[in-house]
Amino acid sequence: MENSKAWVSRRVSSITISAIKEMAMRSAKIPGTASLAWGLPSFRTPEPIRRAVAQRLETDLDIGKYALPDGLPELRQAVTRAHLAATGIEADADRNVMITAGNMQGLNALFHVIIDAGDEIILTDPGFASHFQQIRLCGGEPIHWKLDEPQGWRLDLDALPGLITDRTKAIVLVSPSNPTGKIFAEAALRRVGQIAQERDLLILLDDPYCHFTYENGDRYFNLSSVAELTDRVVYLFTFSKAHAMSGWRVGYMIVPEHLKQEVLKVHDATIICSPRISQVAGLAALTEESLHLREFEEILARRRALICQRLDSVPHVFEYVKPEGAYYVFPKIVAEHDNSFEFSIRLLEEVGVAVTPGSAFGPTGEHRVRMAYCVPEETIERAFDLIDTFFGR
Ligand SMILES: Cc1ncc(COP(=O)(O)O)c(C=O)c1O
Repeated sequence: MENSKAWVSRRVSSITISAIKEMAMRSAKIPGTASLAWGLPSFRTPEPIRRAVAQRLETDLDIGKYALPDGLPELRQAVTRAHLAATGIEADADRNVMITAGNMQGLNALFHVIIDAGDEIILTDPGFASHFQQIRLCGGEPIHWKLDEPQGWRLDLDALPGLITDRTKAIVLVSPSNPTGKIFAEAALRRVGQIAQERDLLILLDDPYCHFTYENGDRYFNLSSVAELTDRVVYLFTFSKAHAMSGWRVGYMIVPEHLKQEVLKVHDATIICSPRISQVAGLAALTEESLHLREFEEILARRRALICQRLDSVPHVFEYVKPEGAYYVFPKIVAEHDNSFEFSIRLLEEVGVAVTPGSAFGPTGEHRVRMAYCVPEETIERAFDLIDTFFGR
């Protein structure tokens, strides 16, 4: 319609759908595409979780009703136990725990709480594409904190203070990282915590991938385990990846008490609550036997080995560093190309392989693509067979 543009707010006009979802939608229209575009684990939600939900669906007369805006009390209690076991920090189920509809929703609620027009949020570059859009949607400015591959994608602590202004509200961290797979070092994370204290900033830890650290488990450090930081760190965990529950839309955040009260207002005004049935699934994930955590990680480790081996065989197309965690690899394009978007579209339309253009993850991602190896080994093999054929050996 001709005048429909006038109906759309400047805020929404100013953002785009993330290239991850755009590539997923484009590739869905091309039958037979080998897709490495979307970080959607191929696993089925584990049986103990499905069983617990099926049982509650039959026996719980309230299962179809709203939950409280901060979530079911029994799930919040289970979250405090999980957080204590993971970090040694005692959160209070009423004062500090908020059940979310996944980390995207949790972060969206937090950005609504903290951002006034023009406020700045510091994000790693490369960083998770949707964070940039979420901040803009709230009228904020994403500030790129550049990381370099030659430096092993590590946090550039010297650069951080120079990015902080009077408008800076928070720093967002994802470790293991999407899209690089980097696990940030404990000392660096602690230093970010000190800087946040000195400059009175919040730290938002978006943590979907803590269970996927492979041989680097000892290097993973959860900054929310630092007691002196609990009044300025928000920890967000999602069941989407670790428990193969991306479609259930459920996660949780551990949040300082005064901020929880503000997040509650946003929940009340937007989603009311995370779906109750999904909260029951989340409860089962935390309380039933969770052998799948180890199993998923082992399968992903094999897929990582495979994708690295296949990348090794096309050095004329891609250069990469082995990812430490999560399930992404972020290679540089060395084959002839103009930019990562044009390259990804060509790969999709001419080769039948879907990847995500690196530029979606910030300026540093240009001339790279992100490949998600959470798909079956056959898909990885097929994608690289097609790449081999197209680019020759
Ligand atoms: C860093 C990061 N945050 C959030 C999400 C989305 O999580 P959820 O499904 O809990 O909304 C993803 C998914 O890819 C992610 O990589």
